[in-house]
Amino acid sequence: MCGIVGYVGNRNSQNILIEGLKKLEYRGYDSAGVAVYTTEGLQVKKSKGRLAVLETKLGDEPLNGTIGIGHTRWATHGKPSDINSHPHTDNSLKFSVVHNGIIENYISLKEELTAQGHVFVSETDTEVISHLIASLYQGDIVKAVQQAVTRMRGAFALGVLTEYEPDKLVAVRLQSPLIIGVGEGENFIGSDIPAILEYTRNVYILNDGEMAVLTREGVELMTLEGNFISRELFHVDWDIVTAEKAGFDHFMLKEIYEQPKAYRDTMGSRIDATGKKVVLNEIGMTPEQIKAIRNVHIVACGTAYHAGLVGKSVIESLARIPVETDVASEYRYRSPIITPQTLVIVVSQSGETADTLAALREAKRNGARVLAITNVVGSSVAREADDVIVTWAGPEIAVASTKAYTSQLIAFYLFGLYLAQTLGTKDEAYIADVVSALQELPAKVEHILAQSETIKGVAEQVSTHNNLFFIGRGLDYHVVMEGSLKLKEISYIHSEAYAAGELKHGTLALIEEGIPVIALATQGDLFEKTVSNIKEVKARGAHVFGIHEEGEAELAKVVDQVFAIPATLPLLTPALSVVPLQLLSYYASLARGNDVDKPRNLAKSVTVE
Ligand code: F6R
Repeated sequence: MCGIVGYVGNRNSQNILIEGLKKLEYRGYDSAGVAVYTTEGLQVKKSKGRLAVLETKLGDEPLNGTIGIGHTRWATHGKPSDINSHPHTDNSLKFSVVHNGIIENYISLKEELTAQGHVFVSETDTEVISHLIASLYQGDIVKAVQQAVTRMRGAFALGVLTEYEPDKLVAVRLQSPLIIGVGEGENFIGSDIPAILEYTRNVYILNDGEMAVLTREGVELMTLEGNFISRELFHVDWDIVTAEKAGFDHFMLKEIYEQPKAYRDTMGSRIDATGKKVVLNEIGMTPEQIKAIRNVHIVACGTAYHAGLVGKSVIESLARIPVETDVASEYRYRSPIITPQTLVIVVSQSGETADTLAALREAKRNGARVLAITNVVGSSVAREADDVIVTWAGPEIAVASTKAYTSQLIAFYLFGLYLAQTLGTKDEAYIADVVSALQELPAKVEHILAQSETIKGVAEQVSTHNNLFFIGRGLDYHVVMEGSLKLKEISYIHSEAYAAGELKHGTLALIEEGIPVIALATQGDLFEKTVSNIKEVKARGAHVFGIHEEGEAELAKVVDQVFAIPATLPLLTPALSVVPLQLLSYYASLARGNDVDKPRNLAKSVTVE
């Protein structure tokens, strides 16, 4: 995820910016840059690659000055490159901007500014901001930024410098985090506390819709409308490691809690302004090419494969195209029937998984068009696929995938709806209902997260067992497969996920007194059948923990403990029901004293077959 650092004071800003950016390296990035006001005006140096590359550039030609902004970019709009790196400037090179987040309406702003004579050099949404501010500037940078922000839609944090007012650093927050560090004769901005912790422990945490104007003498906080705000300083007593995790004990927990934001960012500009349909500008397929698709193969590994299983149901139900889902390590060895009318969808958080990449190449060799769903813009999978839907979950650091999986589900919902719109398999009113329910998901995840203590209690009981079962039907079955994998990989407890109706064909023999069974029963049309299967395990002594939808009263009568998730459309429940299962595995791992973020024998990116 991108990182922002800014400095105004009396020290050499270049060094402070670089040191601050190093503290944000853990967030992941693919390029970096700084802008410093020097005796020769505002100067920018930026480069693709690690910070060391930028440091070498700055070593050869230092930027001497005491006010500056810096950025580490994690590509979203446009590939990792020198030009796409931040800071971005306007054509006069008098304004410079660093930005985290997404400007949803950047295409229309870019068209408007281009018509006014602005020339753009990068593929980014951020470059629009520097041009927009330059076009609105009339001698007051604070006013120009305020006016610019009213024109921008999306989620963002900004750091802005202009050569015309070289003592001021302007910072803005709208949904992307930004903090202000307060020192003696010097002040800082940071997208994250570790960036400034070496220099000060006194910070203001900006809220959404707030901005700050920093000079050497002090910091003014105000709303985006210009009303001044007074706020107590927050004294940070975290060490640097805790600060990297934003106060959470582990990256995995932080990433579970980042899911509402990941959902919002992944939907972002892909839902049109009316809120009734999906816009996927990144899909290059023409309507004729979409109509020619005869079948879909979804190929992935591990958690991404589990997202693909849900994706199969989503595409089949919305677009009525037959879908097969394959584990990537099996796909090319089974001689799959791939034709030019097959759309192959590869799903990969990292975009570097060897088996998934090999499946992609096999599909292309056979003439199929390949769509990638990935979290990493410049990854191999993203580069080699014909079309890419990026999941804007931000970097995932914990080995166990959480927010990447749920963002992949969101990508499938968006793509399924897009197919339905193009093929006419669902009418406008139906699509509008699903889009509206999708937009309600982030708040519903927040509601689940607020009850994490309940799940913690269940996890502590589960952690004392060495075997357990997960059961469910339909989409619930696919979600429990992911729940079971999550529990295995970080708690090392053996579990099996079973289609609830399949138990009695053999596995029921393993159910004995006291064994925990986690039963998902969120699919209304399958509910009664799932309850029958729950009764089968109860009759053999299982201790059943059931997950159902709020408002459903029957499950509590047949299980030992229940947890309710907010109600949504049946097709969308996986994006909610997986969250308690993620928390369950996290707390079970914690209770067993395991290294949650780095489970034994596993690596975050599997680049060998
Ligand atoms: C489990 C997990 C793995 C990955 C799998 C594929 O929590 O993270 O199962 O999902 O290794 O990785 P990507 O998505 O990077 O291709």
